[in-house]
Order: sequence, then structure tokens, then C-alpha cells
Amino acid sequence: MALEFSERIRRIPSYPVAGGYAEDGPPVRLASNESPYPPLPAVKDAIERAMSTLNRYPDPSNSLLRARLSERYGVPASRIAIGNGSCDILLAAGEALLEPGAELVYAWPSFSVYPHLAAASGARALTVALDADERHDLDAMLAEVTVATRLVLVCNPNNPTSTAIPLSSIAAFLAEVPAHVCVIVDEAYCEFNLLEDPDASIDLLAAHPNLVLLRTFSKVHALCGLRVGFALCGSEDLPRAVDQVRQPFFCNALAQAAAVEALAHQDSVTDRVTRTIAERISMDERLRALGLEPAESQANFCWFHLGEEREEDEVMRGLAERGVLVRGGTALGDPGAVRVTYGSSEENLRFLEALAEVL
Ligand SMILES: Cc1ncc(COP(=O)(O)O)c(C=O)c1O
Repeated sequence: MALEFSERIRRIPSYPVAGGYAEDGPPVRLASNESPYPPLPAVKDAIERAMSTLNRYPDPSNSLLRARLSERYGVPASRIAIGNGSCDILLAAGEALLEPGAELVYAWPSFSVYPHLAAASGARALTVALDADERHDLDAMLAEVTVATRLVLVCNPNNPTSTAIPLSSIAAFLAEVPAHVCVIVDEAYCEFNLLEDPDASIDLLAAHPNLVLLRTFSKVHALCGLRVGFALCGSEDLPRAVDQVRQPFFCNALAQAAAVEALAHQDSVTDRVTRTIAERISMDERLRALGLEPAESQANFCWFHLGEEREEDEVMRGLAERGVLVRGGTALGDPGAVRVTYGSSEENLRFLEALAEVL
């Protein structure tokens, strides 16, 4: 007899995972917006040192990491939440805030984990189309906010479309959103956004206790294999609530040690961002030379539509046959589009050569 699962298991969509993990001789992996650069030597040393105390549980309060984040960002440690990746905080926020009868609002296409929140909680999701430039339409999102709304998600820069909206628009939006609504601005890629100083959004926390800035060590810090993210919050309420709904030791000791060390190397962050942006400029130019029109990327990945005459499936297959993994829009909410992470110069070249052949 088959196992009998709860009703919510039928509702929860499976996260569209990228392939290629089990293959020998790894392909060019441009499918998951990872960093092409390995963790810093000092970070690897910190992980090595932390290994000798793995017989102990990790610090359940993540005290040192929260203290360092507090120094770095000027937000009190009590208003900082840590997670097993920023996804963990997102899902815990959904669990803490949502229930049947409640509503959440987010743009679509956006990060593929967002649909999970409504499905898992039984809340109602209101999705709002992006504008013609594939950016969030905050006016349209505001129009969907009601007394039942508990959570609004704003992904800036947006995954998968790579576009960003100016902070002034987010500030104007926050001024209109009722105080009972939690607004999570998902800033997983903020370091790559040239429209704004990545630290500028932090000033908004003082005026908005309902604001949460969600960040991660997965992207620019190149630590996605360890799973560690954080949220800078306008009040202590959300950090407390997300800790209530999770197991006590959600962030492992190696991840905590690595993140603490990574924070001490801001110059390397700047260097890596500069290299990624150089790749972004060069890759987008070469995509345009192939007749494609990438969206205006403020992230570490690009997004473009293939056009009527090209089948997404065929392009994806052709690239995979040439050892290049990217993401097709079907899995991300927009069939006929493609999302490609900016990798190293060599990886990007291999992708562009494969793409030219396939097209
Ligand atoms: C917009 C966005 N938010 C959050 C995450 C989650 O990152 P992590 O759980 O690795 O911190 C991702 C990962 O791709 C993302 O694209």
C-alpha cells in the first residue's frame, strides 16, 4: 500500500533542481548562479580549524556571526536572523507568518522557492506580472495588498530576470504598505547591482520595523556548498519567530566559521564583483552580437528570450550536448527564455561558442 501523505504535500511544488552534479569531468555549470571563484584561502583555513571541534554542536545562537554582521552592517545583533542558506529563513518566515486565510504577494516570474510558501501554509498567493522591462511593478503589487496580507516578497535584483528596481521605488512602496505586513526584500544578488550601494537599503530598516533584508553567503562569498544566509530586520520580531519554527542547530559549525571569516575580506568581495561585472558587460555584448536581447542585468546572471523561431528544449539540449548547463525559462516560469550565470572568462566563452553553434 502506498504511503498516505498530508494534503500539503500534493500542493507543494518540487524545486526545479539543476542537473550535472553526479557527472565526471564537470560540465560548464552556469545553471545555478553560483560563483565561478572558489572560497578564499583564509576561509578554507577557518573551515579547517573549525573541523577539530565537530564533536560539539554548533553555537545555536550563531553569536559570533551575528556580532560580526552587526559590526559590518550597523544593525543590532538581536535584529539579525541566520539561516541554513537564506532559503531557510524564507521558508521559516512563511511558516511563521502564513496560514489558511492569509495572503502573500510576490512578482512572477521570480525566485522559484516563493510558490512553496503558500503551498506549504495553505495561504493564498497573489502573483503580479513584471512590467515590460521585466522589472517588479510595485504599484501593481501594492494594489494587491489587503487586510489579509501578511507577507510581500520583493526580489531585487530579481531572479530569474536579472533586473533591479531603484531603492527610491522600494522606499516609496514601503511608505504605503500597512505596518502589519512583513516586506522581505530578497537581496541575494545586491552586491552585483550597480544602480545602488548595496548597503543603502539598510537605512530603510530604521523607519520600517516590518522590513526584512534577506542576504546570503552563497553568491558573492562563494559559499553555497556550506549553506549560510542572514536577514537584517527592522525589529526583533522576525528573528525570534523564525527561530521558534526551526530546529535548534540549523546553521552548522563550518558554515558559521566560514561566514565569520568571509566577512573580514570585503576587498575580495569588491574584486570578485568587479570581475563578474566585466564578464557581464562582455557576455551581454556578445549575446547582442548573436541577435539576442538580454535584459538589463544587475546580477551575476543574464536572462534573454530565444524568440519565436527557436525551441527552448532544443537549445537546452544542444548546449547540454556541448557540456554547458544553463537554465531554461520553462522551469523558471517563462517558457522560451534562458538564464545563464556569468562564469569565468573560459566558461563564458565555451557557453557562447556552444550557443552560436546551437542557434
Ligand atoms: C533570489 C534568491 N534568493 C535566495 C536564494 C537562496 O540562496 P541560499 O539559500 O543559497 O542563501 C537564491 C538562490 O539562488 C536566490 O536566487
